[in-house]
Formats: sequence, C-alpha cells, structure tokens
Amino acid sequence: MLVVDKGNEQYNNEFFYPWEAKRTSISYYRIQIRAMHQDKCVGAIVCKLDIHKKMARRGYIAMLAVDENYRKLQIGSSLVKKAIRAMVRGECDEVVLETEITNKPALRLYENLGFLRDKRLFRYYLNGVDALRLKLWLR
Ligand SMILES: CC(C)(COP(=O)(O)OP(=O)(O)OC[C@H]1O[C@@H](n2cnc3c(N)ncnc32)[C@H](O)[C@@H]1OP(=O)(O)O)[C@@H](O)C(=O)NCCC(=O)NCCS
Repeated sequence: MLVVDKGNEQYNNEFFYPWEAKRTSISYYRIQIRAMHQDKCVGAIVCKLDIHKKMARRGYIAMLAVDENYRKLQIGSSLVKKAIRAMVRGECDEVVLETEITNKPALRLYENLGFLRDKRLFRYYLNGVDALRLKLWLR
C-alpha cells in the first residue's frame, strides 16, 4: 500500500488507476497508466510490449513524466512498478528504456528499481546529449 504525505495532501492506492491496457495485435500490447489527483492527471507512463529479434519478449518504456509540483513523492516509481507488473503478466523477459545520461532523477528512479546500465548511445538525442539504455531482466 502506497501512502504519500505532502502537507495536507495524502495519496493512497486509489490515487492510481489503470488508464488503458489494450491489446492491439497478437504480438503487441500498449500499456498506459496515469496518476490522478482528484480530476487532475499528475503523471503518466506509456509502454509497449513486443517481440525483440524474434526471441525476447521485450517491454519498452517510451515515456514517463510526473507534474513538477508532484515530484519526489514516489509517483514516478509507482507508475514504473505498475507498468513492470503488467509486463510480468504479459510474460516479458526484459524491460528497456533510454534516458539522457544527464537525467539524474530518472537514473536514480530506475536504478533504485534494479535497472542496469546496458549501453551508452552517443549523441542519441537531437540536442547532442548521450543516452543510456537501461535494462531490467525479468527472468
Ligand atoms: C524522472 C521523474 C519521472 C521522477 O518522478 P518522481 O515521481 O519525482 O520520482 P520518485 O518520487 O519516484 O523518485 C524516485 C527516486 O528519484 C529521486 N529523485 C527524484 N527527483 C530527483 C531529483 N531532482 N534529483 C535527484 N534525485 C531525484 C528520488 O529521491 C527517488 O530516490 P530515493 O527514493 O532514493 O530518494 C520526474 O522527475 C519527471 O517527470 N522528469 C521529467 C521527465 C523525465 O525525465 N522522464 C524520464 C525520462 S526516461
């Protein structure tokens, strides 16, 4: 059970609910989960599940973002954990994502959850910043 306090505001598990987890083809799923505070969406994660190199069932985290005013409340971590649970149910072998090598909050979040630095992708982003590919092996 997740309970987060910030001043007078308190969030619990009801704060989070599945937005959409829909199957779009036999080998491809899309997972989207958002974090709500009252009527406001304050965080979201978007992922896909597909087959990598005809071998591994790969979960890919395409987007994760938390509203600036709601950061450091474990909302991002909770969204990633929920997405990983959906990927486990989808029998994924691994989860991967890319993040800027300079993105300390994201690196801390993912490394706390057991992701490892798998590859450095030089000048991966349009702004010239390198990316790190992070990976979590599920089995
Ligand atoms: C990255 C992001 C999603 C983190 O969301 P969040 O809800 O604040 O994350 P959490 O509260 O779950 O924090 C996870 C860990 O990261 C750390 N962290 C969060 N923000 C941090 C910051 N600005 N500096 C250093 N560490 C930070 C937290 O302390 C926590 O580690 P701890 O438990 O050891 O203290 C959020 O900062 C964001 O939306 N950034 C912009 C978009 C982005 O970069 N997305 C990721 C792209 S892959």
